[in-house]
Amino acid sequence: MDNNQIRALIGKMTPEEKAGQLTQLPTRLFGNNESELTGTDNRLRITDEEKWLAGSLLGRLDANSMRHIQKENMSRSRLGIPMMFMTDIIHGYRTIFPVPLALSCSFDTSLAWRCARCSAEEGSAAGYQVTFSPMVDLVRDPRWGRVMESFGEDSKLSCEFGRAMVQGYQGNDLKNPSTLAACAKHFVGYGAAEGGRDYNQADLSDYTLYNQYFPSFQGCIVNNVKLVMAAFESVNGIPATANKRFLKKILREELGFNGIIISDWNALPELICHGVAENEKDAAELALKSGIQIEMASDIIFKHIRLILEENPDLEKILDEAVEKVLTLKAELGLFEDPYRGVSRENEQKTLISIEKRRAALIAAQESSVLLKNEGILPLKKDCPIVLTGPYADSGDILGPWSVDGRIEDAVSVLEGLKNRGGKIIDVIQTGSENIAPEMTESILSSAKQADIVLLTLGEPVSWSGEAGSRSLIEIPKDQCKLLQKLHKNGVKTVVLLFNGRPLDLRSILPWADAILEMWFPGTEGGNAAADLVYGNVNPSGHLTMSFPYGSGQIPVYYNRGRTGRPAEYLQSEPRYKSQYLDIPNEPLYSFGFGMSYTEYCVRKNGEIKKKGNGNYVIPIYVSNIGNMDGKIVVQIYIHKIKSIISRPVQELVTWEKILLKAGEERKIEIVLNSDVWNYWIPGEGWTKDIGDYIITASTDSQHKDVKWELTVK
Ligand code: GLC
Repeated sequence: MDNNQIRALIGKMTPEEKAGQLTQLPTRLFGNNESELTGTDNRLRITDEEKWLAGSLLGRLDANSMRHIQKENMSRSRLGIPMMFMTDIIHGYRTIFPVPLALSCSFDTSLAWRCARCSAEEGSAAGYQVTFSPMVDLVRDPRWGRVMESFGEDSKLSCEFGRAMVQGYQGNDLKNPSTLAACAKHFVGYGAAEGGRDYNQADLSDYTLYNQYFPSFQGCIVNNVKLVMAAFESVNGIPATANKRFLKKILREELGFNGIIISDWNALPELICHGVAENEKDAAELALKSGIQIEMASDIIFKHIRLILEENPDLEKILDEAVEKVLTLKAELGLFEDPYRGVSRENEQKTLISIEKRRAALIAAQESSVLLKNEGILPLKKDCPIVLTGPYADSGDILGPWSVDGRIEDAVSVLEGLKNRGGKIIDVIQTGSENIAPEMTESILSSAKQADIVLLTLGEPVSWSGEAGSRSLIEIPKDQCKLLQKLHKNGVKTVVLLFNGRPLDLRSILPWADAILEMWFPGTEGGNAAADLVYGNVNPSGHLTMSFPYGSGQIPVYYNRGRTGRPAEYLQSEPRYKSQYLDIPNEPLYSFGFGMSYTEYCVRKNGEIKKKGNGNYVIPIYVSNIGNMDGKIVVQIYIHKIKSIISRPVQELVTWEKILLKAGEERKIEIVLNSDVWNYWIPGEGWTKDIGDYIITASTDSQHKDVKWELTVK
């Protein structure tokens, strides 16, 4: 099916058939009623007959139901047009990897690629052809529940992790039946929802949009991502779903996206609530004109297409363009040749959750964990008697939100992981998450007397993050903190394992924990990964990609903050009149880039920065592992522009490298800065090479900048 055949096909289609191709309905309308809702249960009015005109479906599916629905569709489709099947495969399909915020803490995009590859193999075997991933929203507010789905507060990291996932999902040829078309989301600024309250409006200047929010989509777009999803919220007063400037001028013309723009769930009718559409017909027309090409989980384009075209015949051109995009993707996926894309029950059963995929999920969970505190207590010896307790002691509910077909029963709990690694567990007491009864605390304290260490799993329930999981306070449930403080008061050595989907306010546990290992929601192999890290089979190598604030009052706090005329860090002698809080420091409790290890690294200059013939710069660095355990160092390179025609952030991550160093090993490395790192978007000028004086630093976190170079970029 080539372009000419597609255009010829469009020429035969009625307005309803065209509008049908732009309509995406939940699979629950087609008999998969166990399909969980991922949005409002809006009442669709499309009839049982008309629904077969839908171009694509989203929601729960398996090989058999996909074949059944597609067969029925092909028997009904007047022009033989196959359906497409989509869903949210965000961090694994059946084999679940760590949530994306955790994955980004690995600073290793190859793990994201591997996660996407495994997801594509499993998801395509289950009958899908498209995933609504990667989510590349920049996030700076941990009250927002969907930070778990993002790659954190730096757009360069989001850009590179998004790129890797698109490559993993799509490969080089979508005709390969083990690929998925990917969808970068949510364009744009969804993570900037005011107050961290989901779906809330955002107000972002072009200075911020161009330098922070648009770039995270760049990696996906240059790697030919097939769809981009418009965000729910309004930015600067215009809902993204109806934002022609965003969707046409910026996304298509400036960023060069040429795939399908899909709305978010029910976002078209919601334009009425946004106050920019009078009624459904108005909303459908506005969305079409703005560039929306698939309407997700609502049916107002279909319902009103006749009237829209009567009133506005030249919209037929926009309609045909959208239909052409949808049919082109179906052709790229090979669906016209084989509407079933080779999907079969036996292949599905053979493909889901294989040993290799579990291994990949284990490595990802090991590399995504971040050691936040260690008072010389970790790693533990295998024969160290342990009491294991807390809400995640013996629980498989560590997959996190958006775990599509992930099964709790498949997950390795911390208890199972410790046993698998030969640990000596004296007792295991699984507690509630919000409520821990005093008698349970007493039994934990008495068990602790027989052990050397209490391994205390703490965190937030899975449902407290994810979509619509906004929290005004980002604290750990009080009973969990009380339990830790009681253990400390009783002189018990405690190692805390954190299970959470967002940065939390750790002030209520930090003084009383002897060690804190951030596990996030680590996925199917989480328990084995936790045990490997606790026993030192693996040396923690994760670094935070989102700041941990001193509670909600410090939000927003992020590493590449803007400058002020009265920086507190310089005006030490000035007691009051400087940019500070009276009650907490300006810096977060844990900064972007921070992560400890069981060994110790040293980063030193190995000469001056040199400019290469191709305009790139090379930074000569000397790294060494001065401890007695092998480990992976993450060398981060930050730039600081001394002066510019616009006030720039105090620092910006431009690149990084993760390197395995054996105990005692030292190595000379050269990190390359390519010439686009000097580009900055300047209001009134656009993208500009910001020449001048810079300070370049190499370090293992964004706060301790001991290794510096001065560089003048001409
Ligand atoms: C949800 C999310 C979006 C997801 C879609 C389908 O509301 O905002 O990220 O892809 O609906 O589940």
